[in-house]
Amino acid sequence: MIRKRHLYITQEILEKNPEISTYDAPSLDTRQDIKIVESPKLGAEAAMKAIEEWGQPKANITHLMFHSTSGVDMPGADYQIVKLLGLRLSVKRVMLYHQGCFAGGTVLRIAKDLAENNAGARVLVVCSGVTIYGFRGPSDSDLVFLVGQAIFGDGAAAVILGADPNTSVERPLFQLVYAAETIFDNSEGSIEAHLRELGLTFHLSKNVPTLIGDNAEKCLIELEAFSPLGISDWNSLFWVPHPGGLTILKEIEAKVGLNKEKLETTWHVFGEYGNMLSASVFFGLDEMRRKSLEEGKSTTGEGLEWGVLFGFRPGLTVETIVLHSVPIVTTPSMSP
Ligand SMILES: CC(C)(COP(=O)(O)OP(=O)(O)OC[C@H]1O[C@@H](n2cnc3c(N)ncnc32)[C@H](O)[C@@H]1OP(=O)(O)O)[C@@H](O)C(=O)NCCC(=O)NCCS
Repeated sequence: MIRKRHLYITQEILEKNPEISTYDAPSLDTRQDIKIVESPKLGAEAAMKAIEEWGQPKANITHLMFHSTSGVDMPGADYQIVKLLGLRLSVKRVMLYHQGCFAGGTVLRIAKDLAENNAGARVLVVCSGVTIYGFRGPSDSDLVFLVGQAIFGDGAAAVILGADPNTSVERPLFQLVYAAETIFDNSEGSIEAHLRELGLTFHLSKNVPTLIGDNAEKCLIELEAFSPLGISDWNSLFWVPHPGGLTILKEIEAKVGLNKEKLETTWHVFGEYGNMLSASVFFGLDEMRRKSLEEGKSTTGEGLEWGVLFGFRPGLTVETIVLHSVPIVTTPSMSP
């Protein structure tokens, strides 16, 4: 995991490219030139750490999924990352661009299918969020834009997914049990993002937190995953929602009736790094397993068995992943 904010919006970059900090100056070329190079590089750094922790040869990676909200190019960031990491040239690639914050859930949903339907598959999933596409100077008539500037940050994350782990050499961290995606009723236009000559423009309606809060519990009930398990107490789960914003998290806490500590991990990620688009939920998972180990909990999910991961995106769409934690077996060599 990479733990930095706004890696590519430095004073030096802004002085060299004044069109980026002008509210409505055509600037897409400049943004593309930075993004196309830096997004795969940042993703590759995160991937190298994931592969190192996994401890297996790179040649065992059979599939690669890369998501980046921006930086569309050919050959894409997936190709660049194969070259940067020295992966097998025959690795099977899926590139997802322009999907927004929820895509941390999307890549997990698709990678789960790939892993379960291809015996022996090991899917390297990389999400790289470089927010220079959307950063620009203020305008008196566009206050919404300031909301985005305040919450979005740069970050990349990577995980390796597979079915039937070889537990003599692999140490699973979480199990993905069920994945779903749904569009909220009456949410048209609440989150939109449009690619223009001046970069990525976005519209975040004031009712986004309420919409998410109002629908969060409904998603869990309609999932057809928890009721067969007899789970209806949402405080019995560990929680990894996308840290979309302060008010979104408060709404989920209030409307689902969560105890204060339930979203502690997510609050921590949001406070430290902001909303890093699709990479955010992976920071949440990483923080959760790290904290669980540090606090001597019995499982990677804060000592609990079942958990839920939420990703929200333009649409308004939600990705829901049902998680199962893994027992923590402490050995002298393990450190958080
Ligand atoms: C932006 C945010 C973090 C600020 O939280 P906060 O510091 O607690 O402040 P508030 O929510 O009270 O909002 C502060 C001001 O910004 C305004 N504001 C908040 N969201 C706004 C929006 N989307 N558009 C325009 N104004 C907005 C509020 O009306 C308020 O204005 P006021 O002081 O004139 O009443 C919080 O509003 C938030 O989480 N919003 C949701 C962000 C979002 O849509 N994320 C989706 C990406 S997945």
